[in-house]
Amino acid sequence: TLGGYADFMEKEISEQPEAIERLLKGRLGEKGILLDELRMSEKDLAAVDRIFIIACGTSYHVGLIARTLIQTWAHVPVVCEYASEFNYEQDVLITGHTLCLIITQSGETADTLTAARRMKGMGCKVFAVTNVLGSSAARESDGVLYVQAGPEVCVCSTKAYTAQMVACALFALRLAQANGHMDAAEVSGHYADLATLPDLIRTVLSRAWQDKQAATVFRRAHSALFLGRGVNSTTAYEGALKLKEISYLHAEAYPAGEMKHGPIALLEPGFPVVAIVPEDRVHDKTVSNIQEVIARGATCVAVATDGDESVASLCEHVLWIPPVEDELLVPIVAVVHLQVLARYVARSRGCDVDKPRNLAKSVTVE
Ligand code: F6R
Repeated sequence: TLGGYADFMEKEISEQPEAIERLLKGRLGEKGILLDELRMSEKDLAAVDRIFIIACGTSYHVGLIARTLIQTWAHVPVVCEYASEFNYEQDVLITGHTLCLIITQSGETADTLTAARRMKGMGCKVFAVTNVLGSSAARESDGVLYVQAGPEVCVCSTKAYTAQMVACALFALRLAQANGHMDAAEVSGHYADLATLPDLIRTVLSRAWQDKQAATVFRRAHSALFLGRGVNSTTAYEGALKLKEISYLHAEAYPAGEMKHGPIALLEPGFPVVAIVPEDRVHDKTVSNIQEVIARGATCVAVATDGDESVASLCEHVLWIPPVEDELLVPIVAVVHLQVLARYVARSRGCDVDKPRNLAKSVTVE
């Protein structure tokens, strides 16, 4: 039931801090991250030398973040593919120690299940990150990590997105611990950073629900461009996907550095651009992209870190996030603003945010 919320999207966006708390609870033991659900021996885990992450839609975006976390923390090379593309590829370059990670909220997405069966058929172990107990993905995989986000009713995914990213972070740490790329102190340091996420998201939520101003920028828009760099190019993809699926406003996302290779031609006075520009190693590069956007008369809404004057002075509106210790975890915090923004824009356009047209909660046909 809705329990006082206007719609399931609002409810599920609000449930994110508790979902992540549930997922993290009891995951740090004396020897490090506890992830027995993997059902792999320490030796087999340490031997993993390549990972295929396969997913669709929002879960694919989780995969892009997971790729960075695994490569950075565990130094294992990762390929991340849309299931619908992977299934028709001719040559899949696996090794004797390749692991397949499927990410699927519903656990019933046909393309993702087909991909998992294909990888299994080639002799790979398949590990599933899913939200639904006893789902096909859970039943057919060698190991399964339930994200425990609770039922997601709204067709567009919100709490499963952030919870799945945290689940993948735990997996990356578990792998780093097994293959020796991190010692126990480093692992618990990263776990402590993950444990700060629920409160960071609470802070963002308390601000985002109060802020309907940003949505007005899209009032007369036909299209919007989302930009970000590094891990937050993925935040841009996810923000654009949320906006287009529930508000029917065309939205496109690009890594900010790619803007000048084409999309910049779209810009004209009043064109809305959403830039994700937190305090991180690529901050100044993204600020220059914002300057290019502003110089063409476009209107920029930014997601930026508290106190960032360089962004505030350029943009029409800033959605503020508190400082995040590890910049790789910013996507889990920043996306919350974009979920709320998409919902406000959709509602102002009279759309049913829980049941967007043409979409189903799980896509069980290929
Ligand atoms: C978007 C959305 C979809 C799903 C996709 C995969 O908000 O919900 O893009 O993420 O259909 O679904 P799962 O994760 O159930 O495999």
